[in-house]
Amino acid sequence: MTGQAPAADPDRRLAALARYRALVEDWDAFCAAAHRPLPVCIWANPARADAETVAALLAEDGVPATPVGWVDGALRLPTGTRVGHHWTYRAGLCHTQEEAALITDPLLAARPGDRVLDLCAGPGNKTARIALALGNRGTVIANDIDPHRLAPVEAVVSRLGLVNVSATCVDGRRFPDDGRGFDRVLVDAPCSGEGTVRKSGQAVRTITSETRARIAARQVELLARAVALCRPGGRIVYATCTFAPEENELVVDTVLRRWPGVLRVVAAAPAGLATRPGVTAWTGRQLDPGLAGAVRLLPQLADTGGFFACALERADGAEAASAPPVARPPGPPVDAPLAAWSRHFGLPDNAFAGVVVIARGGRLRAVAADHEPPTEPAPVFSGLELARRGGAAPKLATAASLAFAQAARHQVVAVDSTGRDAFLTRGSQKVNAAWTGRPGAVLVRYREWLLGGGLVRDDRRLDSLFPRVWL
Ligand SMILES: C[S@@+](CC[C@H](N)C(=O)[O-])C[C@H]1O[C@@H](n2cnc3c(N)ncnc32)[C@H](O)[C@@H]1O
Repeated sequence: MTGQAPAADPDRRLAALARYRALVEDWDAFCAAAHRPLPVCIWANPARADAETVAALLAEDGVPATPVGWVDGALRLPTGTRVGHHWTYRAGLCHTQEEAALITDPLLAARPGDRVLDLCAGPGNKTARIALALGNRGTVIANDIDPHRLAPVEAVVSRLGLVNVSATCVDGRRFPDDGRGFDRVLVDAPCSGEGTVRKSGQAVRTITSETRARIAARQVELLARAVALCRPGGRIVYATCTFAPEENELVVDTVLRRWPGVLRVVAAAPAGLATRPGVTAWTGRQLDPGLAGAVRLLPQLADTGGFFACALERADGAEAASAPPVARPPGPPVDAPLAAWSRHFGLPDNAFAGVVVIARGGRLRAVAADHEPPTEPAPVFSGLELARRGGAAPKLATAASLAFAQAARHQVVAVDSTGRDAFLTRGSQKVNAAWTGRPGAVLVRYREWLLGGGLVRDDRRLDSLFPRVWL
């Protein structure tokens, strides 16, 4: 599972970062760390497994995993581990995300009941963390300007079994205001990406001042829109994966000046993680002193990529309880053969508790009962796919099998590790002679974990219905 690209010439690779020398007191350590490839980071999906279990399953396949001390449930794997190929990833027991990017969790501090907007969400890693912080209930809106960046968002929320996300596709600078205000808004802004040098292994691009100014102008507009969309007393987190103060502190400083007395920086660096404070002066410009409360992650401090994050609070109103949910279902509820599925697979009575079924196109989707998709912009998707509408009654989509049918007692085909790998690569296999179920829709289980849905033919061949898009 490991493989590493050859490193480019070390000196040339980092040449574009020399402009940050004055900001980094331990420059040699910074350069040495920036040259090293990045360890892989994953986190356990709490609905399926804890980190100890995931670590033990990876260890069985010779992959050592050590806890990331400052984030519960996160693990570090050796550089180059292709964890996306491992069965635990495909079955939604874990997800991969750069360790540095996890910093937005404690800064955003999203809580169950919050209504959260992730303004620049593709490919959805932070959306997934927010959705879990909300307990897989309530409302997360995952917006991205690029429809191609929303397909991976759907794949992530489906694989992890998240039912509280709606995706929208508009320019975040013009995301409409429904007048209610979000409790939390995340702006994980498009940026020059200089902090990803360890991941890419490529030379850091030199950014001209014109390009930098253009990127920063867009970042200011996105952050300003986020502030406008956040309710008084709510919180906004601005984040990038670059070292450039022009795209970080200067962006926040510009927006702070537009809302004097309304916005303030919240110092929220997590305990147990070595970080540096935000800068308060750059190329002669004095910035809001509160920006020292922003967080800079540098490669040499905690062996991560480079990252910047700043939490802002709208101080123009008391921290009030979240706006009460609007009393309307997430879509016109439709009849779904929940009882037929439950009978067919022997599911417990509460298998679909807390979700409602809506129809979108030819598909049925499961959405948290208290989820509030926006009316404007109309969502590209909400929740996860349950089944084809009007399709052969007991057939559940893989996302739905993993989310709702882990406790199935009937029509379950148990496979060994060879069958597991065949199933997860969409291969066909012969069903074990001891299996006593009927041909038709089945669920496939490896040890105690479901892998997804399949179809047993009359000749007892099992076809995998594992989604191609998850491979
Ligand atoms: C750094 S990435 C976000 C990563 C994501 N939050 C995650 O953790 O998986 C920035 C995203 O912003 C999107 N983007 C760029 N300009 C935008 C705009 N004007 N409005 C909304 N999204 C935008 C890009 O398509 C890209 O997907």
